[in-house]
Amino acid sequence: MGATGLTVEHVAAGYGDIRVVTDVSVQVWPGKITALLGRNGAGKSTTLRAISGLNKATAGKIILEGSDITSMPAHKRVGAGLAYVQEGKKVFREQTVDQNLILGGFSQRFSKKRQAAALHEVYDMFPMLAERKTLLAGAMSGGQQQMLAIGQALMSKPRVLLLDEPSGGLAPVIVKDVMRQVELLKQSGLAVLLVEQEVDTALSVADHMTVIDMGRVVMDKPVAEITDRVGLREAYLGRADMATVK
Ligand SMILES: Nc1ncnc2c1ncn2[C@@H]1O[C@H](COP(=O)(O)OP(=O)(O)O)[C@@H](O)[C@H]1O
Ligand SMILES: [Mg+2]
Repeated sequence: MGATGLTVEHVAAGYGDIRVVTDVSVQVWPGKITALLGRNGAGKSTTLRAISGLNKATAGKIILEGSDITSMPAHKRVGAGLAYVQEGKKVFREQTVDQNLILGGFSQRFSKKRQAAALHEVYDMFPMLAERKTLLAGAMSGGQQQMLAIGQALMSKPRVLLLDEPSGGLAPVIVKDVMRQVELLKQSGLAVLLVEQEVDTALSVADHMTVIDMGRVVMDKPVAEITDRVGLREAYLGRADMATVK
């Protein structure tokens, strides 16, 4: 542990003077998926924003493959091997699939050769995208756009990938497809931090689970040790009381 993957230690973060994440620690290992769970408003997205550098971590440490990146600017974190797929399938709708992917790797200033290799790898992993190279992103389905958003992130050749609710707003059959791809990413050796509100979706692929509530960790354990999923859902991820929020 430590020299590989991502270690988040007692991080705090928020917006201006509002602290919404008070104490979050989470570990992500190469070739494994850590699910970051919690009800709506728990601080999951804010945690990812702090890890990616979009929001400042006002306390704690973020260690990427043994290096402290807590105060590194966001774009440099991408260069250091960290990629982030934000909530809501953020693709360039008026650009083709090909252009979207190339833009995804742009910040890395790869040589033409390296860029072509990265593109090739993404198309290998997502044949569905390869078949739609010249299609406008906005013309694709929600699930396809989500895969494209993930493909974009992969263009920077990350070793750690942060995914914020990739299943959000997708039909259940499509969610299965997306999760199958996420599992393939893990099998390729990536360390994946997967934010989800859907417990069963997350636990179907995750190796480790960290649950946060009101900006702090309330449970952290290997998925194999979870014996009572119903109890887990009721205790920390209650749906009835949050149904109105989203
Ligand atoms: N841009 C923002 N400015 C102020 N408060 C925010 C902002 N974004 C989120 N919040 C607040 O931070 C808290 C945690 O939000 P978030 O991290 O998005 O939760 P989650 O992803 O777990 O649903 C919520 O109370 C939310 O209202
Ligand atoms: Mg969120």
